[in-house]
This record gives sequence, C-alpha cells and structure tokens, in this order.
Amino acid sequence: MTELKGKSVIITGGSKGIGRETARMFIEAGARVAITGRSAEALEKTRKELETSSSSIISVVADVSKEEDCRRTVDTVIAEMGCIDILINNAGMSARGLFSESSIGLYQTLLEINFLGPVMMSRLCLEEIRRNKGSIVFISTLASLKGIPGLSHYSSSKMPLTAFSESIRGELKKDGVHISIIYVGFTGNDPDKTIYDSRGNRVPLKRGKNNLTQQDVASAIVKAVTRRKEIITLSTLGKLAAFSYRFFPRLSELVLAKQALKSPQYKEQA
Ligand SMILES: NC(=O)c1ccc[n+]([C@@H]2O[C@H](COP(=O)([O-])OP(=O)(O)OC[C@H]3O[C@@H](n4cnc5c(N)ncnc54)[C@H](OP(=O)(O)O)[C@@H]3O)[C@@H](O)[C@H]2O)c1
Repeated sequence: MTELKGKSVIITGGSKGIGRETARMFIEAGARVAITGRSAEALEKTRKELETSSSSIISVVADVSKEEDCRRTVDTVIAEMGCIDILINNAGMSARGLFSESSIGLYQTLLEINFLGPVMMSRLCLEEIRRNKGSIVFISTLASLKGIPGLSHYSSSKMPLTAFSESIRGELKKDGVHISIIYVGFTGNDPDKTIYDSRGNRVPLKRGKNNLTQQDVASAIVKAVTRRKEIITLSTLGKLAAFSYRFFPRLSELVLAKQALKSPQYKEQA
C-alpha cells in the first residue's frame, strides 16, 4: 500500500467533476494537491472549497494541450510543493456528432487535449516521479475500448492512451514507476458540464442515465494509486461491455451501430 500522507499530487482538470472529487479524496488522505484547468474562476472556486486549515492545495491555470502551460505547471508545483510523486491525467473533453458532420479541427483539438496533453504532462513529470517511485494515472473511458458510432473523435482521442500506458509501463517498471489506466463509464456530471458539438462549439451536456458517481470514480483513482493497480474497468456494466467487445466484436459492432442510428444521445450527447 502506498501511503498518501504528505505526497505531492498533480490532478489535471481538478477544478470540476471527477477531478475535483479526486482532489478532495487525496486531500482527505493527507496528500498535498495541485489542480489545473483552463478557467481561473472555476479553479479558484474549487481551491477555496477544498482548502482547510490543515489541507494543502494550490491551483495553476493551464491548458493541458499547450506545452508551455504544462511546463509552467510542473515548474510551479516543484517550486511550491518541492517535488512530484503522483500525476493524475484527468483533464479531458468529450464530443458528439457523426463523422460526416464533424470538422477536422475537432479531431485535432480532442487529440491534443485527451492524448498529447497526458503525454506532455507525463514526460515533464517523469524525472520527479521516477526519483520518487511514484505513479502516473490515465483517466480513460469505456468508449476507448471500442470505437463508438457517434463518438469517433472522442473514442479515437482516448484509445491511444491504452497503447501509450502499456508501452511506458514496460519501460518504467524496472525503475519502480507505477502506470495505471482507468476505463470510466457514464458518470454523474456537474450541471454546467460542457462538451464539443460536431463543429467544435462547447455545448451543455444533456444526459439521462449514469452508472457511476463522481465519488465512485474518485475512489477508484485513489485505490489505483494506493494499491498500485495497473488497469481498472469501472462498474459491472463496464466490465460486461469490455467482455463483449473482446469476445463478440462483430456482434458488439452491430449492436452499437444500431443504437447509434436509433438514439439521439449518440448523435448529439453522451
Ligand atoms: N463523466 C463521464 O461520464 C466520463 C466517462 C468516461 C471518462 N471520463 C473522463 O473523465 C475525465 C473527467 O471528466 P469529467 O466528467 O469530470 O469532466 P468535466 O466535469 O467536464 O471536467 C473536466 C475538467 O478538465 C478540465 N479541462 C478540460 N479541458 C482542459 C484542457 N485543455 N486543459 C486543462 N484542463 C482542461 C476542465 O476545466 P476547464 O474547462 O476550466 O479547462 C475540468 O476541470 C475526462 O478525461 C473524461 O474524458 C468521464
């Protein structure tokens, strides 16, 4: 078990949703936490909400898709917290829309946020995390286990995280670095959560049923770090989906395509 007390943790996208709940749980466990995000207002609100007399939290306004912002984040955390033990690559954006209606720019934007951002942050934190035999965690999605119709941009931007995490796990195991990837299913969201539409505009998320709460996901993230778990697929439904994708790929594709054509949720939202 990894003891979290006093550990220095970066949580990208820690101002809202799953990231904010994860920050709360790490702080409750005695860790020192740095949260990042693009909106200064949202970050400050969360920093104030999570700050107590005994807790330690800082915030850095940074866009994970910009290398200079990632460098500034890492430099700030080292300057203010002394070291980095754990990186949670949580910042991410989702999108909805059919391929035939989607702009090329949207594919680029999602790849930069959902894949290259985590790669840059992991590279910039590596020296510190290797020295401290710490953890790098990637927050992925069930939609990366199989390409989902209506989510071609989102699925394709998260799928490379699987290959990347497997590759670097093989390289870094000998150094004691723990690499984890978590496949998350539909999770309850903040009321003001936004996603991209097919033209790349940020629009409110309207979604019906969720299988997980933000607390469920946050506690799985903490467990991944303390128990040094390498792969977690969340919820029974998620495990069932993963099983069908693996052993019944053609049937799964037929079912998913049928759902996509039927459900406005896959066309516009999820
Ligand atoms: N919620 C779900 O159902 C679900 C399911 C599967 C996987 N996930 C994954 O879980 C993670 C968190 O999702 P969530 O539902 O908590 O999302 P959320 O409520 O929209 O929060 C996303 C967080 O990431 C930040 N962010 C977004 N783009 C960023 C960028 N370019 N640079 C820096 N920060 C950025 C946001 O702050 P700013 O907007 O201020 O930048 C916010 O703090 C994501 O990686 C998502 O793909 C979520």
